[in-house]
Amino acid sequence: MSGLTKILDIENLNVSFYSDSVKTKVVKDISLEVYDGEILAIVGESGSGKSVAMKSVMDLLPVYAKVSADRFLFEGKKFLEIKGKEKRQILGNDIAMIFQDPMTALNPVKKIGDHLIENIRRHNKMSKKQAESLAIEMLERVGIPSPEKRMKQYPHEFSGGMRQRVLIAMALCSRPRLLIADEPTTALDVTIQAQILKLLKNLHETEKMNIVLITHDLGVVASIADRIAVMYGGRIMETGTKDEILYNAQHPYTKALLKAIPGTENGKKCKLEPIPGSVPQMKDMESGCPFYSRCEHAGEACLCEFGATHDYSDTHKSYCMNDLKQLNERGA
Ligand SMILES: Nc1ncnc2c1ncn2[C@@H]1O[C@H](COP(=O)(O)OP(=O)(O)OP(=O)(O)O)[C@@H](O)[C@H]1O
Ligand SMILES: [Mg+2]
Repeated sequence: MSGLTKILDIENLNVSFYSDSVKTKVVKDISLEVYDGEILAIVGESGSGKSVAMKSVMDLLPVYAKVSADRFLFEGKKFLEIKGKEKRQILGNDIAMIFQDPMTALNPVKKIGDHLIENIRRHNKMSKKQAESLAIEMLERVGIPSPEKRMKQYPHEFSGGMRQRVLIAMALCSRPRLLIADEPTTALDVTIQAQILKLLKNLHETEKMNIVLITHDLGVVASIADRIAVMYGGRIMETGTKDEILYNAQHPYTKALLKAIPGTENGKKCKLEPIPGSVPQMKDMESGCPFYSRCEHAGEACLCEFGATHDYSDTHKSYCMNDLKQLNERGA
């Protein structure tokens, strides 16, 4: 990936929450990049730290959260050091985030058109009339039929999928360089989910919008991601291109995750296998590999230390204390 421009460049990001002077580290030494022109998916089970990691980019964490990193660059700027007006400008214009439940982001007593017009005028100097015609165009662009009529309706008159389209239209108002989509389709049924993913892919191409897609569902990323980072217990366990992760996964956790989705092991149909055990509490996994208690290959070393780095290609890395080559040769 050398030579490509990095939009987001994070090295050793840590996030801890403080409560009654107890510190819980929920994101641990994660490093990730978003290259210009790509869709990066962050995948992992509930509680693995996906949202917290990306909320640190949006400055959306509560005051009792402490964020630190060896490097945290957005378009080359030292992001953690930028404050005040400059930060607000970047967060308002260059980065946008959409969430799983679009209803909470919309004011139930405000018409859809007013949401959009307000948002457009916040980012662009234009009259209400101009903003209104741009809002209609935006709704059209995200596939909402009869946009003039829809502008006058309230959020409760929209279905879940349509509300998510509205939020995507709102995010587009500032023409962001980076869109962080946090489980944008989880609350939707399968058909609508596919439509929203298609829309995101389409906007990624036409608007040149880079996307970080957060999901717990590897099946979702298969359709649109370029690269995948697999997270568990606040750590990144494996990263690679979509094909490297889906067809050549090396880490025991990624393999277990793949077996837990229908018909994906090496592209062949296979039996669905749930990952045994449950996600441990963050406070229980301060050191060592967070997958320790659920991993059939875990040894003593995994309890004390997080994985050694295994490089498989320029883009494919896995973090595990085991000799993965040996494990994989044994067919484990
Ligand atoms: N505001 C908060 N205060 C304290 N702890 C938090 C807060 N937000 C998240 N956490 C904790 O941080 C850890 C990571 O949470 P996070 O929301 O990032 O998980 P996630 O991977 O996004 O999961 P999900 O798929 O359920 O959204 C969890 O243990 C969670 O309980
Ligand atoms: Mg989340």
